[in-house]
Amino acid sequence: MSANPRQILVTSALPYANGPIHIGHMLEYVQTDIWARFQKLRGHECIYVCADDAHGTPIMLRAQAEGITPEQLIERMHGEHLRDFTDFGVAFDNYYSTHSEENRFFAEYIYNKLREGGHIRTRVISQAYDPKAEMFLPDRFIKGDCPNCGAGGQYGDNCENCGATYAPTDLKNPVSVVSGETPIEKDSEQYFFKLEDFEEMLKAWFAAGHVQSEIANKMSEWLDEGLQDWDISRNAPYWGFEIPDAPGKYFYVWLDAPIGYMASFKNWCDTTGHDFDSYWNRDSKTELYHFIGKDIARFHTMFWPAMLHGAGFRKPSAVYCHGFLTVDGQKMSKSRGTFIMARTYLEHLNPEYLRYYFAAKLGPGIDDIDLNLEDFAARVNSDLVGKLVNIASRCAGFINKRFDGKLAPRLSSDELSRQYLGAAESIAALYENREFGKAMRDIMALADKINQYIDEKQPWVTVKDEARLDEVQDVCSIGLNCFRQLVILLKPVLPRLAAQAEEFLNVDDLRWENLGDNLLDHEINRFVPLMTRIEPVFIERMIETSKEDLAAEQKMQQQSSASGIEAIAPEIGYEDFAKLDFRVARIVKASRVEKSDKLLQLTLDIGSETRKVFAGIANAYQPEDLEGRLTIMVANLAPRKMRFGVSEGMVLAAGNGDTELYILNPDSGATPGMRVS
Ligand code: 2FM
Ligand code: ZN
Repeated sequence: MSANPRQILVTSALPYANGPIHIGHMLEYVQTDIWARFQKLRGHECIYVCADDAHGTPIMLRAQAEGITPEQLIERMHGEHLRDFTDFGVAFDNYYSTHSEENRFFAEYIYNKLREGGHIRTRVISQAYDPKAEMFLPDRFIKGDCPNCGAGGQYGDNCENCGATYAPTDLKNPVSVVSGETPIEKDSEQYFFKLEDFEEMLKAWFAAGHVQSEIANKMSEWLDEGLQDWDISRNAPYWGFEIPDAPGKYFYVWLDAPIGYMASFKNWCDTTGHDFDSYWNRDSKTELYHFIGKDIARFHTMFWPAMLHGAGFRKPSAVYCHGFLTVDGQKMSKSRGTFIMARTYLEHLNPEYLRYYFAAKLGPGIDDIDLNLEDFAARVNSDLVGKLVNIASRCAGFINKRFDGKLAPRLSSDELSRQYLGAAESIAALYENREFGKAMRDIMALADKINQYIDEKQPWVTVKDEARLDEVQDVCSIGLNCFRQLVILLKPVLPRLAAQAEEFLNVDDLRWENLGDNLLDHEINRFVPLMTRIEPVFIERMIETSKEDLAAEQKMQQQSSASGIEAIAPEIGYEDFAKLDFRVARIVKASRVEKSDKLLQLTLDIGSETRKVFAGIANAYQPEDLEGRLTIMVANLAPRKMRFGVSEGMVLAAGNGDTELYILNPDSGATPGMRVS
């Protein structure tokens, strides 16, 4: 335990439960995890909690599109997210969900306190409404032409073509993404949080240094613009918590999201027997830190402290913002394959490569961080494989083979060890201040020193001289003791490598305080390579896979924003419909089509005649499983000449892609040739 153990609660932003984790997210979780692991390594109590952000319209619509309940969706996402984080070595003490009873309790509690304090008021406002889907539309669910540059298909809040920001009512030719209908304006009563009541408190809070200077400047601008009421309610249908005493009104997802930090912590306290109040009371002596992206600063540096203050809780000790991740100098891009999912990364590369690279690039500011893929491979290969692991592999062989795995009983010099120890406090300060890049640079400078020392001593030469074997053992023991110190210094960044190194060095869980010890007369285990080089082909394959899985994800996103009743074709009148001649057909023969992966050729009996049609269902059905089955076909479609022959009609199938396809079947009793209407 450290002499003065601190009590620290740390959080990362809660990822939305409507999509997978990508490496842009990972930047933040890795940053927070390194910091939390560092605190624990130093002997402090540091609790790292997070959760899925499980409410809001996009989640509701995605569940609808998948034909499942929101509960089923968020449960699945929770599992996927937690697996991704765990496999990246992100060690939460608790990973919970905002859709929890604890969160409902605190959301209601805080809301009630704010209302009692006179900080909530209602007002009737006019908002975009989809008359067909019968729901109010968030800005992101309205698309149209940009009022500034005219670009089509732009969202209701900003234009991706020219960067203009505007209100959804400014869009030209707006349509609802949910139904394709033109939105109308509709009045409804909403609940507002009076942020202006907290102006003085916020001024004092940010002047006291709880936020980075860049963010403090932004906050001053927001304060100068005047604090607007914040709309914390949404109308049904909405996926979230209903507001007490306001049927049909729900808390806006951003109200209960940060409360999710408390709820996750409360859940952890209840399972581990810790005291919730000592962390959240207004006069708490504990520390509370939120790591977030700069895009959500306002929620965390204005609304959240005001909510906490108004409800009688403590405020964060600090909110730490980071910048966005770019890849090869540009925004992550689906078409370039640089929009890389955490899972895809994990299928191709060791997560600790990326943890190290992020650490090497991270500082305390809000600048964007670039993952330059070439530099990434070069840096990892040079620093981790070429410098760090190399020390162990150079020394271990001699110790294992020539000295029965035993380190020397004493060292001829502890100068290097002392230099390492001397640097440790300034490295600790760098970790503490989130100067990870500088910390990595200093640690690698220490690794250079021991490599130079080994180069000078040349144990591979002295080992040939029986009379100098003691020297070999001495040099390699110094090398491995320095390696052990480097492992401690890097443990917050490379937990998996550290665990393997502990196994190889035959030592228990290394702590920061072990930096001052040396392993003497100590038996180590056989060395196994701790990390291998990144080969360019691994990265190329990851990029290729990313291009493929993004196509699939994009399709899902489109469907979720379109809620399954997507306007995929224009409205038609009954006369148009009546022109279609649907018939029951029996599939008498089904066969594969040479040189086509997708098509099957079906011979259909429609009572009076047989037809040959091509159907794109080869990925979903084996031909032999289809023979004898009834289905529905369009019988009056003009014959169509295809590459493989003429298709005389079309069979009907439901589905959302090549792999999910279901041909339609009439109930039993129907016979070939029956008219379908
Ligand atoms: O921006 C986002 O991804 C949000 N889900 C972050 C929420 S952080 C916290 F407030 F819950
Ligand atoms: Zn524009």
